[in-house]
Amino acid sequence: LRAVRALTIVDRKLELADHPAPTPGPHEARVRVHGAGLNRADLLQRAGGYPAPPGVPADIPGLEFSGVVDALGPGARGVAVGDRVFGITAGGAQAEQLTVAATHCAPVPDTLDLVAAGGIPEAYMTAHDAMVTQARVQPGEWVLVHAVGSGVGTAALQLAKALGARVVGTARTQSKLDRCRALGLDAGIVPAQTADGALDVAALSTQIVEATGGGADVTLDLTGGEYIAADIDAAAPLGRIVSIGAMAGARATISVLALMSKRVSLVGTLLRPRNVEEKAAVTEAFVRDVVPLLANGAIMPIVDAVLPLARADDAYELVASNATFGKVILDCRAEA
Ligand SMILES: NC(=O)c1ccc[n+]([C@@H]2O[C@H](COP(=O)([O-])OP(=O)(O)OC[C@H]3O[C@@H](n4cnc5c(N)ncnc54)[C@H](OP(=O)(O)O)[C@@H]3O)[C@@H](O)[C@H]2O)c1
Repeated sequence: LRAVRALTIVDRKLELADHPAPTPGPHEARVRVHGAGLNRADLLQRAGGYPAPPGVPADIPGLEFSGVVDALGPGARGVAVGDRVFGITAGGAQAEQLTVAATHCAPVPDTLDLVAAGGIPEAYMTAHDAMVTQARVQPGEWVLVHAVGSGVGTAALQLAKALGARVVGTARTQSKLDRCRALGLDAGIVPAQTADGALDVAALSTQIVEATGGGADVTLDLTGGEYIAADIDAAAPLGRIVSIGAMAGARATISVLALMSKRVSLVGTLLRPRNVEEKAAVTEAFVRDVVPLLANGAIMPIVDAVLPLARADDAYELVASNATFGKVILDCRAEA
């Protein structure tokens, strides 16, 4: 079998190694990968945490891809060899080729650069699933997005604006808030800190209530930790909070009284462990609601950097630096 190059985790380090070309199984497509966006989960996986679930390569990172279908397994439907596709996977995308359920492949609009498209699926599917499918955002509502300059944050911001919502975002870096203004951000907050550098929960919740004139209807919490306490304190009556990330910590001290009295709902979400049918449903919703907005230019991928697979170490360090705005993408083409 012909070998393909893939980023490979060996002893908590990244190497570029040859692997046998994957063969598409039943209902699967094989994709020649053009772009594969980086995600915080990749950093965790490289460090030995967050192992890949069964059924995907354990040592090849990568949760999202774009590329061209080059082979189909038995019974694969909905895609054809030669199609430009993008989607999510539970691992293995940072490689020249991957196999994936055909139902997890969405068509890439002609107007999009195919490498840049590799940074779209994880951010936009996470944002759409949380904000629309789960929190049922309505036009005119206030959406709060923490880490709004992140990959998921910039996707959530654009999607919320395209759906007619108003957006208040937080970032620890003022320049990211300034750049988000160009994407439609209505209000930006640099979260207040206490004298010892911790998050000032009371001050942040006041900042949110003031910016929204009464509280956030929907919150996409990409940060976790004590941000969740501020989310609850700053939620509007019947607010919906979706916990999506834990960069600021896994625990919080919350007011159940605030939760009860405002009848706030708090739900957690994770894409990676969902089963084949659940991921097909997320992909279907993405094709229905998000792909047309990408095709007509209402929303777009925000790309901080594109680096070849051979420079994966630099790409990972760039994400870890917290300096990025939008996505870092690996160009996985053999000639890159
Ligand atoms: N649930 C899911 O299925 C799912 C899917 C995708 C991503 N996620 C999560 O969503 C979050 C965002 O992911 P991403 O890939 O979009 O991130 P990203 O593009 O790497 O951006 C993250 C940004 O968050 C800010 N940040 C980092 N540590 C922070 C902290 N301790 N407190 C507050 N802000 C901090 C930094 O910006 P500043 O320093 O400028 O603020 C950083 O640039 C991550 O937690 C990720 O794990 C979850």
